[in-house]
Amino acid sequence: MLKKVGMFVGMFSLLIGGAVAEEMPGKALFKANCASCHGMDGKVSEMGQALKPYPARDLTALAEIVDRDEFRRIIAYGIQGTAMTPKKYDLDEHDIEDVIDYIQTFERKVDLAMGKKRFEAVCSTCHGMDGRAKTGMGAKNLVYSTLSLHDVAHTIRYGRANTIMTGKRHQLSNDDIQDISHYVHELRYQADAKKGKKLFASTCQSCHSTPSKIALTGNLAHKSSVSELSDYALNLRIRHGRHVNRAGQKVAHLSEDDSQDLIAYIRKEIK
Ligand code: HEC
Ligand code: HEC
Ligand code: HEC
Repeated sequence: MLKKVGMFVGMFSLLIGGAVAEEMPGKALFKANCASCHGMDGKVSEMGQALKPYPARDLTALAEIVDRDEFRRIIAYGIQGTAMTPKKYDLDEHDIEDVIDYIQTFERKVDLAMGKKRFEAVCSTCHGMDGRAKTGMGAKNLVYSTLSLHDVAHTIRYGRANTIMTGKRHQLSNDDIQDISHYVHELRYQADAKKGKKLFASTCQSCHSTPSKIALTGNLAHKSSVSELSDYALNLRIRHGRHVNRAGQKVAHLSEDDSQDLIAYIRKEIK
């Protein structure tokens, strides 16, 4: 029953927007439990700014880049060693969902130009100005990363354990993290299957009449087709190792972008 009422209120608020946020159950809960530090608009109160060791954080940027599950975890269990104490003693499961619904009404406009600027200042030493990570630091090439926007933001926030990719939650504001995440997403190479088709005709067709005729070899021979391989594995199999001996230097000289175009074409042909 409660859930139905919630759904009704949810649909209603979609219809007439902000006016109804007033009546969202999460709003009163946020006001009573969160606003003293985070501000009623999610932009951090004066008191929140003065907290030690870390100030409260802006929630308007976070609403877009953080999964609901992560909100649940942070709100219920808090963040150890900070003024963000666990709230599971004050709020039950439904309350927490309502509070998250309210947080998700916050909006912030993404600033891509700022994302570029901050990326170049904070990330390029390892990932390169173009994101291709030709820096000798062992960082990942972000242009071919397949992470979702949320996963990019998560990686920036928490880093990767036991690598020099450290978490940046306290080095960057949430505004920065949102802008940079979008910028990283924009850097992604957009593979072009049409170009891939032309390349296939000029470079591969003499030996493989169609992508579906490519047979896998060695330890992969048991797989039924190349569609079972990841982009990463397929790229390696085409441009490196034994295939270069079989197919010739033409294949070794394909650029990384060429390879992505080819892979897009191959995937289009074999479902
Ligand atoms: C007494 C002050 C205080 C109250 C009350 C409070 N918070 Fe926080 N909150 C903080 C602080 C401080 C941090 C930052 C901790 C850190 O930097 O690790 C934080 C962090 C967070 C974060 C993570 C932000 C990020 O960028 O990772 C979320 C989400 C959050 N709070 C939600 C809430 C919600 C929802 C409530 C109410 C149910 C609430 N907080 C109540 C002080 C507070
Ligand atoms: C000190 C070097 C360094 C800096 C600075 C750095 N990174 Fe990284 N980053 C790495 C390394 C190394 C990895 C690979 C970690 C691993 O092995 O999983 C990585 C991985 C990543 C990944 C995961 C990519 C994928 O597809 O798995 C993302 C996203 C990322 N970094 C984004 C950023 C952003 C954005 C910044 C700036 C805010 C940044 N990094 C700053 C070194 C760095
Ligand atoms: C001169 C002949 C030749 C050319 C040109 C060639 N290949 Fe191959 N390729 C082979 C042979 C031989 C094999 C071994 C399996 C087989 O006989 O089908 C192979 C295997 C492969 C495999 C499976 C690799 C593995 O490790 O199992 C892939 C993927 C592949 N080719 C893709 C391509 C693509 C994409 C191109 C064009 C960029 C290309 N090949 C061009 C001869 C060629």
